[in-house]
Amino acid sequence: MAYETIEIETHGRVGLIRLNRPQALNALNARLIAELDNALGGFDRDADIGCIVLTGSEKAFAAGADIKEMRDKSFVDAFLDDFIGRWDAVARARKPIVAAVGGFALGGGCELAMMCDIVLAADTAQFGQPEIKLGVIPGAGGTQRLTRAVGKAKAMDLVLTGRMMGAEEAERAGLVARVVPAAELVVEALKTAAAIAALSLPAVLIAKEAVNRAFETTLAEGIRQERRLFYALFATEDQKEGMSAFVEKRKAAFANR
Ligand code: CAA
Repeated sequence: MAYETIEIETHGRVGLIRLNRPQALNALNARLIAELDNALGGFDRDADIGCIVLTGSEKAFAAGADIKEMRDKSFVDAFLDDFIGRWDAVARARKPIVAAVGGFALGGGCELAMMCDIVLAADTAQFGQPEIKLGVIPGAGGTQRLTRAVGKAKAMDLVLTGRMMGAEEAERAGLVARVVPAAELVVEALKTAAAIAALSLPAVLIAKEAVNRAFETTLAEGIRQERRLFYALFATEDQKEGMSAFVEKRKAAFANR
């Protein structure tokens, strides 16, 4: 697939995807979502990739779903086509995705960041769910993932007023893992992703799965499942290597399979 709205690069075992529709502040149209789905699927299946970075431009991670493309849709168009359903590819990826967010992450842009596993924000980042100002509500998880991330008080504040929240506030609220200077955003994201990609891939995939279970199940069931997954990792070469390396005071060399 020839990409028009994204760019992809590989940096060692890290796959980088850059949203690239500068004329529309990376608004997420059907073409971009199809390309993102294709690129993510490619990296997710590629045995030489251990972690993915998703970023935008300095001005915008993404300013939301493409309003010009959505404006004339009827309910039946939207319902039958289920265009937001295609965004789920991001949440379905098995490998970890680090979102490197600079500038605007609004509406679907904020929702896209929240589908990722670690959100790094530039100090210039602005998060928000402004859909209410368009006469609609968030449609790609904004009312659900945002509420789980920041709690009801702040989620209601953002979803009902449509106001933007800066990077520092987003970090305090628990939406963002770390805030970094804008000029260092992508380098920091690549560094974080490279560190993850150097670890045992089975352990990394299982760790992601286990944390995500916390949002889907009861505490007792989640803990039971975590313990099973923990024991299961004793079947990997990487567990033997990781623990032997610690005992022998050397750096672990994971087989990554
Ligand atoms: N869809 C389509 N085009 C968009 C867009 C969007 N979401 N956001 C920005 N653009 C376009 C603008 O129309 C403009 O294009 P033209 O030059 O052709 O007019 C270009 O990008 C630059 O934007 P602005 O001139 O508006 O730039 P600004 O710096 O003055 O403002 C902004 C930046 C505050 C982000 C403003 O563009 C804005 O408010 N954008 C819309 C944000 C929004 O409402 N997002 C939610 C979308 S709905 C959604 O996402 C639903 C969902 O949950 C799935």
